[in-house]
Amino acid sequence: MKHYTSIHDIDNINSWIEEAKLLKSNPLKNIGLGQHKTLGLLFFNSSLRTRLSTQKAALNLGMDPIVMNVSGDAWGLEFTDGTIMNGNTAEHIKEAAAVVSQYCDIIAVRAFPTLTNKEKDESEQVLSAFKKYASVPIVNMESATGHPLQALTDAITISENCTKPRPKVVLSWAPHIKALPHAVANSFTQAMQKMDVDFVIANPEGYDLNPEITGNTPIVHNQEEAFKDADFVYVKNWSSYEDYGKVINTDPNWMITKEKLGDAKFMHCLPVRRNVIVEDAVLDSDNSIVIQQANNRTYAAQLVLKKLLENA
Ligand code: CP
Repeated sequence: MKHYTSIHDIDNINSWIEEAKLLKSNPLKNIGLGQHKTLGLLFFNSSLRTRLSTQKAALNLGMDPIVMNVSGDAWGLEFTDGTIMNGNTAEHIKEAAAVVSQYCDIIAVRAFPTLTNKEKDESEQVLSAFKKYASVPIVNMESATGHPLQALTDAITISENCTKPRPKVVLSWAPHIKALPHAVANSFTQAMQKMDVDFVIANPEGYDLNPEITGNTPIVHNQEEAFKDADFVYVKNWSSYEDYGKVINTDPNWMITKEKLGDAKFMHCLPVRRNVIVEDAVLDSDNSIVIQQANNRTYAAQLVLKKLLENA
């Protein structure tokens, strides 16, 4: 594996899950692997879990992490080739990526979508430019269309909590006041498609995800019907894909309640807005596995970094 930018970079999700569980049981086993290696973490957007868990993962491997808030602290970056840079951008990605590659053995990047320009978002302008112009492996810490570190985490967490050979997993949309990206839902969908689970997506009309990603996965517009016999309910808001980036529905009836959830496990990538996405009674119950999920971010990132270091 040269880069980890998509869930499709995982060759065998079941073996990755088992290896991540082994790392979790002995996190410092490979402490020598990353000695004298540097991980650069570049954030174009906010983060709590990704920022801390990816650094923790690097430290567990003996790597030195260095972090930069690109949007606030670096020069304004230009991504268009051949442009006359007489506007607000002061440095071209060609130089920036080449320079950072000299300081870092692996570069991890977070860059969210515009949610106003579908074509630009689907081109993954920032991530693609780093892949093109950096000379070291690139890790996606959530891009315009995918969050593969989160999805690997989610697969590990489902495996840890699974009590039957083929569990029913539901990805449910829930209301939110702001327009949010599709990245988490996209990568979770792709991960579930690789696993032996009965997978269903529930969302209101007008909120179907990119059909190139959902493929043959059943999509239902009735949450109650989707939740029947569910073992895991993964909840996430996303803006409309069809009416790109728009909030077309904030129906509070789609909020997750204890009554709707039943005996299913509740999952969410966090951060989550209490009593908008999900009621307190769910998050504060034993059915919620969101804290365990967030803990697994470390081991998903550690596995990815380990594989990239071993491949170097
Ligand atoms: N789930 C997740 O990516 O969290 P952060 O945005 O806090 O990193």
